[in-house]
Amino acid sequence: MSAVRRWALVTGASSGLGTDYARQLAERGWNLVLTARRRDRLEALAAELQSAHSAEVLVVDGDLGDEGFRDRLVAEATNGRKLHMVINNAGFGWQGDFLDTAWSRWSTMLSLNIVALTDLAWRFGRHMRDHGESAHLVNVASIGAWQPVPTFAVYAATKSYVRDFSEAIAFELASPALRVTCVCPGGTKTEFMDAAGMKLSKLSELGLQTSPAVVRESLDAVLGGRRLIVTGWLNKLMTFGTRFAPRWLAARLAALSMKPAA
Ligand SMILES: NC(=O)c1ccc[n+]([C@@H]2O[C@H](COP(=O)([O-])OP(=O)(O)OC[C@H]3O[C@@H](n4cnc5c(N)ncnc54)[C@H](OP(=O)(O)O)[C@@H]3O)[C@@H](O)[C@H]2O)c1
Repeated sequence: MSAVRRWALVTGASSGLGTDYARQLAERGWNLVLTARRRDRLEALAAELQSAHSAEVLVVDGDLGDEGFRDRLVAEATNGRKLHMVINNAGFGWQGDFLDTAWSRWSTMLSLNIVALTDLAWRFGRHMRDHGESAHLVNVASIGAWQPVPTFAVYAATKSYVRDFSEAIAFELASPALRVTCVCPGGTKTEFMDAAGMKLSKLSELGLQTSPAVVRESLDAVLGGRRLIVTGWLNKLMTFGTRFAPRWLAARLAALSMKPAA
């Protein structure tokens, strides 16, 4: 554990990967700013991290799709403290045919997965560049970023955006002080599947990673300065395979793999 604790901000900390990012960062000696909408969960996590790891924790709850909330989050998070890691993790998916799903769902998804992530990358990126100390900007995408995914068309496209955007700004910054990492998990046991209205077959469930394993592998990559990490050997193999498939075939295979369980 470092003598001086540094601060990390985790979005989507009330569940799944976000909760595990917070836990594992506290274990590694970091203080935390936690944000999501469910304040009760954030407070319970804050109490756990304070008692288990003596971490200082700030909770700022709200809807990241709301620009006014993002103003407040940035103001509170940077008030009297320097952030040295920001993990843009909050996001959600939805399985459904594009035209048969209400526009409000796609619009909310675009606002969270793309607009909020980009806005926070810009605001916190400038904060971390300006303080000039070693820092990390982490954007969570998905292996869905590797090919079109029928029935997950909008979600997968938001994650392609996150991957391209992250790799481009990592190149622009090219600074030893501020590093950018794009994390690409595959199917992981969290609340994501329920929130996305997915029904998985028993076989698909077997291929899921656990959230602590995804977070451990990705944090090692972040702290090692990697620009892109696909977690889990099966996901690495699948994303490597897409290099050799024409786009139509990759889309067809993705459609097959996303078929809901009977
Ligand atoms: N699990 C997977 O299979 C998988 C695979 C690839 C990529 N990912 C990506 O990993 C990231 C984390 O997902 P997860 O698997 O941990 O899912 P999760 O368990 O459903 O967690 C999603 C988190 O996002 C927060 N969130 C959702 N809408 C929000 C909003 N409008 N404002 C603020 N916070 C909001 C939720 O908190 P509140 O509801 O309390 O706001 C929750 O903390 C996402 O970006 C997801 O796309 C997941």
